[in-house]
Amino acid sequence: MISIICGTNRGQSVSKQLAIYYQNSLQEAGANSYIIDLKELPKDFLNVALYDNAGKSERFNILKKKINDSHKMVFIVPEYNGSFPGVLKTFIDALDYPDSLKNKKCALLSLSSGTQGGALALSHLTDILHHCGMSVLANKPKLAKIESNFKDGQFTNDLYVTLLKEQIDGFLDF
Ligand SMILES: Cc1cc2nc3c(=O)[nH]c(=O)nc-3n(C[C@H](O)[C@H](O)[C@H](O)COP(=O)(O)O)c2cc1C
Repeated sequence: MISIICGTNRGQSVSKQLAIYYQNSLQEAGANSYIIDLKELPKDFLNVALYDNAGKSERFNILKKKINDSHKMVFIVPEYNGSFPGVLKTFIDALDYPDSLKNKKCALLSLSSGTQGGALALSHLTDILHHCGMSVLANKPKLAKIESNFKDGQFTNDLYVTLLKEQIDGFLDF
């Protein structure tokens, strides 16, 4: 199974809308997936699921099992302060190191309000996922000026439709 990770816990996130778009596109290409929205993390995640508390949060254990059962993952990554959201790093820190991610494959997609499209965010995240033993698909679309190019769950920019389609085709062959 493929899991699509919405890389923020912000409510009403654009990342979640993109995750749904991505899931529908995978479905059209014949691949099933499920979405893990970091908004589903327990409210007291920091205190109940990390370090000495590893394994003690049933709610987090359900999310972790979904990751552990995935052979491929897609990370939808918004740019926050020139990088990826801290909650995504904390989520990764709460997984089983190295087994949750090691020898698995992933695709990365980023978005931002500004002109960089989350390029640095994906660079930072790629370093970490490589460290964890993941293979990262080289095709990493960076969707700049997202508010002007994605409305009501659809792209208003043909280039972005093409970039996603190319990534999905490559990801399914990866
Ligand atoms: C905490 C925070 C930090 C942000 N920092 C940046 C930034 O450094 N560069 C940028 O272009 N946009 C930045 N943004 C805007 C987001 O990239 C943009 O709103 C994107 O749609 C957020 O995705 P989301 O709706 O999934 O949270 C920031 C947004 C938030 C909430």
